Amino acid sequence: MEFEKNDITLKNGIQIDERLKHIAFIMDGNGRWAKRKGLPRELGHRQGAAAFSNIAKYCEKIGIKYVTVYAFSTENWKRPKKEIDAILKLLDNYLDQRYNDRVSVRFIGDVSVFDDRLKNKISAVEKETSGRELVLNIALNYGSRAELVNVCNRLLKEGKNEICESDISSRLYTGDCPDPDLIVRTGGDIRLSNFMLWQAAYSELYFTDTLWPDMTSEEVDKAIADFYSRKRRFGGLDKQVSENP
Ligand code: FPP
Repeated sequence: MEFEKNDITLKNGIQIDERLKHIAFIMDGNGRWAKRKGLPRELGHRQGAAAFSNIAKYCEKIGIKYVTVYAFSTENWKRPKKEIDAILKLLDNYLDQRYNDRVSVRFIGDVSVFDDRLKNKISAVEKETSGRELVLNIALNYGSRAELVNVCNRLLKEGKNEICESDISSRLYTGDCPDPDLIVRTGGDIRLSNFMLWQAAYSELYFTDTLWPDMTSEEVDKAIADFYSRKRRFGGLDKQVSENP
């Protein structure tokens, strides 16, 4: 997808340009948010779903071409059934809403495990919203290792005996999306938790103690400002350094 010039300037004065096409969010801290308020974890997820809607809308408003959110991991099945059901119910409700006309909603992860009703809803939403200018990837039953194993099995089935990087990249769930430029993790932990390990090779990482239900557009602006303060060399040298060794 071509980068169309984005005339939006954030409140902090940052102008978004082609360096920031893709932001991914690890939405962590729903449980702790609820615990701090003496509420059941499920209410933390409900507030987390509201924060997700707000942040997705904000990213659309400021013209981020690709947004990815980690909604449910392959490891989250270890949680109590009541909590899993609550998260999947929030997702189900989300699938019923009216979507923004500018956004293609896609699901990344192994959705084959869900019941036919949910799978049909997922594919209907993907079909209804396809081909739009912005992309929202929702990672569901997603694990980066499982994604890579899936790619390897596909390559074996295709009979390949030698592969290159693009053979892998093009078969990831993220397929035609550029790698995330910025990965934001809320909730205070400093790790990737099996999220986009291949795609994150050169991503800038931003960690905040803010719990996901408290995530705001101001914090997104802060992460973006931090991103623009970094020097991305992708293993090379700064232009000036490479010209004056
Ligand atoms: C991590 O917080 C969050 C999750 C495992 C679920 C994320 C789900 C949502 C934000 C709501 C549903 C999403 C959509 C797309 C409608 P945690 O429970 O691990 O928090 P903790 O570390 O404080 O326990």
